Amino acid sequence: VERVFSGVQPTGNLHLGNYLGAIVNFVKMQETHNCIYCVVDMHAITMPIDVWGGPAELARNTREVTAAFIAAGIDPKKHIVFNQSQVSGHAELAWIFNCVARIGWLNRMTQFKEKAGKDRENASVGLYDYPVLMAADILLYRATHVPVGEDQKQHLELSRDIAQKFNNDYGDSIRSHGFGDGLFFPLPEPFITGPATRVMSLRDGTKKMSKSDASDYSRINLTDDADTIAQKVRKAKTDPEPLPTEEKGLDARPEADNLVGIYAALSDRSKADVLRDFGGGQFSSFKNALVELCVTKLGPIAAEMKRLTADPGYVESVLVDGADRAQAIAAETMKTAKDIVGFIRKP
Ligand code: AMP
Ligand code: TRP
Repeated sequence: VERVFSGVQPTGNLHLGNYLGAIVNFVKMQETHNCIYCVVDMHAITMPIDVWGGPAELARNTREVTAAFIAAGIDPKKHIVFNQSQVSGHAELAWIFNCVARIGWLNRMTQFKEKAGKDRENASVGLYDYPVLMAADILLYRATHVPVGEDQKQHLELSRDIAQKFNNDYGDSIRSHGFGDGLFFPLPEPFITGPATRVMSLRDGTKKMSKSDASDYSRINLTDDADTIAQKVRKAKTDPEPLPTEEKGLDARPEADNLVGIYAALSDRSKADVLRDFGGGQFSSFKNALVELCVTKLGPIAAEMKRLTADPGYVESVLVDGADRAQAIAAETMKTAKDIVGFIRKP
């Protein structure tokens, strides 16, 4: 069975974009794959400390993402749920990959440029190295399938480049360690699927929905109650035209496209199907239906998250148990990776 790996940062405000772009696919892939879902706390600290909130916030957000995974339907007994910092192989493999990846490759990463902003000299070295750690996350488990939102596509391409260069650089050593095809790391594939791989801000259809947007009205948080969801959807930006009857009518109408995409993803239908029902109608009635759908789908998740986070002991026991099982897989990869590189180790 093929192995799936994906991660979510514990940086607060889990939102509908995280859910539809990533978590929904995490849940689906459980049926067909062995899955490892990681709360990437080491990635979270790459931004300035006031951005991610400091130690207490980090721990709280780590429990919250874990609770969201479970509440959304991830089974932590059948699959693995843990936080990244518990398995030291992530950092160890990232170091080896730091010496494989090229500065020129990292200089092309658009997310670094966005997150570092104008004051690039003042960004952390960790933020620059973020995509290398991400490659290590995936390849530590030699995972082949990576469900993510559209914004992670470039990072996945970098992961493939790193895997390929490692396999090339160490080709002879890899073959002498029993991999006749010279392929130690597989080339991981992104899984970017569904009608909502890039959910946009409710205030501006050209901006991605994000955890860090100053306006809470830009996003639907997984912890929002029904009244809050209703207010946010009703206030969401639209244009004055009625909804189009065909999907191509959504071109150049980013806000309409976004809301229809959200409706389609939440109801597990295509945008064309949704427009068959609502095309030609006004936004007001479509928004009423969207509020109802959001509340029906997200309400139970919010309630279950609340129940789970009320018991930090249970959530933390899930992470500890998951880390033990992750570690068993990681240890095998690290042993062989060290042998391939030529690092002497205790047998
Ligand atoms: P992050 O919160 O940055 O750790 O993202 C966790 C997952 O959610 C990643 O797979 C992202 O690609 C995905 N994601 C984040 N924001 C969005 C969005 N606005 N639309 C779709 N997917 C998203
Ligand atoms: N960079 C991803 C994000 O911000 C999170 C992440 C870290 C990840 N490591 C990963 C996603 C490994 C997939 C696989 O969304």
